[in-house]
Amino acid sequence: MPGKMIVLEGPDGCGKGTMLAAIKERLKEKKIEAVYPVDPGGTEIGRQIRAILLDPANKKMSRMTELLLYVASRAQLVEEVIRPALAADKLVICDRFFVSTLVYQGAEDWIPERKLEEITLLGLDLINPDHMILLDVPAEIGLHRVGKDMDRMEQKGLSFHRAVSQRYLNWAQNLRKATPGRITIVDATQPVEDVRTQVLSIVDELVGI
Ligand SMILES: Nc1ncnc2c1ncn2[C@@H]1O[C@H](COP(=O)(O)OP(=O)(O)OP(=O)(O)O)[C@@H](O)[C@H]1O
Ligand SMILES: [Mg+2]
Repeated sequence: MPGKMIVLEGPDGCGKGTMLAAIKERLKEKKIEAVYPVDPGGTEIGRQIRAILLDPANKKMSRMTELLLYVASRAQLVEEVIRPALAADKLVICDRFFVSTLVYQGAEDWIPERKLEEITLLGLDLINPDHMILLDVPAEIGLHRVGKDMDRMEQKGLSFHRAVSQRYLNWAQNLRKATPGRITIVDATQPVEDVRTQVLSIVDELVGI
């Protein structure tokens, strides 16, 4: 099987971690080898960058610094983990990827979209996921699920998280119009079982199991 990359995207608390665990279990059962990177993070250098990004003490961080740190962490992940895995014909199942940057770093309208895209794409080195799954939930539901222990990004206001949720949906609908095979929008307000059934059927089809 040639290497393939699947990305799970969606607002905080939409269920990415829960679905990744389900995918992991399914692929293990089928004895299919895969790597499961987390973005930001996923490498030692990326983990250090992630810690800076999520530290509530870093209140002074400028938006451009934040953007470049996300892009830097991902550049390391692409070079160290994703490209080698794809080259070795492995499956890559990623918890967030570049769309998170387009959505979160664009949600406060401080940078022209074109510039945000240019900077974000720089860190990808032309890696493009075969399929992306958006776990679509309203901000309120996601934040409620995440509970009170919020990191620096989650502590931003409700209006920010509403913008995130909306930007995800807009982005996914646009991509679906342009290239329907590359994106699936899943209603993640459904019970875990129902979301899992849908997500696993997408993975099964892509992987051919
Ligand atoms: N469909 C669902 N219905 C109800 N609760 C859910 C559902 N999916 C996940 N949860 C619960 O919501 C919480 C957040 O889920 P999870 O950690 O998988 O989300 P996440 O997208 O990885 O969040 P984050 O962006 O913060 O990493 C967990 O307690 C999980 O059990
Ligand atoms: Mg998670």
